[in-house]
Amino acid sequence: MVVQIRDFTYKDMPNLIRLLNETYKDSYEFSPIIEGTIRFQIEERGAKFLIAEENNEICGAVAYRDGFWGEEIRWLAASENQERTLIEDMLVREIEKHVKREKVFTTLDEGSPRISEWNERGYRAEGGLYHMTATLKDTMPLPKVPEGVSIRSLKPEEEKELVEAGNKGFGWERLKLGALQEWKNDFPPFNEEWVQVAELEGKIVSIVVAKPDTYYNKLFSANRGYLGPAATIPECQGKSLASALTCKAMDFLFERGYDPVVLHTQEQNVPSVTLLKKLGFKIGHHWKFMRKNVIRQYS
Ligand SMILES: CC(C)(COP(=O)(O)OP(=O)(O)OC[C@H]1O[C@@H](n2cnc3c(N)ncnc32)[C@H](O)[C@@H]1OP(=O)(O)O)[C@@H](O)C(=O)NCCC(=O)NCCS
Repeated sequence: MVVQIRDFTYKDMPNLIRLLNETYKDSYEFSPIIEGTIRFQIEERGAKFLIAEENNEICGAVAYRDGFWGEEIRWLAASENQERTLIEDMLVREIEKHVKREKVFTTLDEGSPRISEWNERGYRAEGGLYHMTATLKDTMPLPKVPEGVSIRSLKPEEEKELVEAGNKGFGWERLKLGALQEWKNDFPPFNEEWVQVAELEGKIVSIVVAKPDTYYNKLFSANRGYLGPAATIPECQGKSLASALTCKAMDFLFERGYDPVVLHTQEQNVPSVTLLKKLGFKIGHHWKFMRKNVIRQYS
């Protein structure tokens, strides 16, 4: 076998798309990969694609990007034959050279038979992500919140306060100014009314954002709502504020005909998962993060 690993060029596009769609077609809520998907990843997200070639034929591909959750091997695919794992091993070894910091991860379905292949490459399961879902069949009673707290929608001039409260709650820069405009562009008819906030002594102390699940709805002709981000500033946690805002946001979606509602949360986020289960959310899907420390060789 003489396999060469080389950079992707746009001439590879049709073969790359075919290979990725063939590999990922049975994945959870699969949406077909199109040229726009690849271009967006390369041109907007700085993704790096490598191609494996044998006898001038593409037999594998891998993609790396530095994203929201860290440095990630986003796609890995090779033609389904006895050489698949060998080609994938070569691609992973090559793409790891593009990792800038010390850790890289990939995402697999919990229980996937591929987990053992990634173990062989030195990757270990460490945390994961839940896709959680709840049905919206009626409005729900709002949990009681402490005296002096008002629960309401965001006002158009309050984006700065929203960003500050959100980032204080997360403890890192989860939100940036301009987020509202991005959501308006990406998720029409989203506007400030879709953001539920808790106010205490003139300050926003907790936030829950609702949106239509636009991409999914378009693809599957559905009417699904989406929740997130959600956060309460540390001094006000444990006072039922996020619970009340989540109920309010679910009612908001229900009244506009959305059902079900979904969100993503990390499996280690005990407060978030506990709160959501109490409100009737179930785990719809579970992805595991497989992580590796890539040891840098300095010469
Ligand atoms: C998750 C978060 C939004 C919860 O906000 P909150 O206003 O404190 O939540 P509530 O007071 O409404 O909590 C409601 C329930 O969640 C659970 N919960 C909240 N904090 C918890 C904790 N530290 N450990 C375990 N369960 C917890 C409890 O069951 C609680 O109900 P109880 O008080 O009756 O037992 C808050 O911890 C936060 O901002 N975290 C950082 C940002 C984040 O992770 N956001 C979610 C991402 S999807």
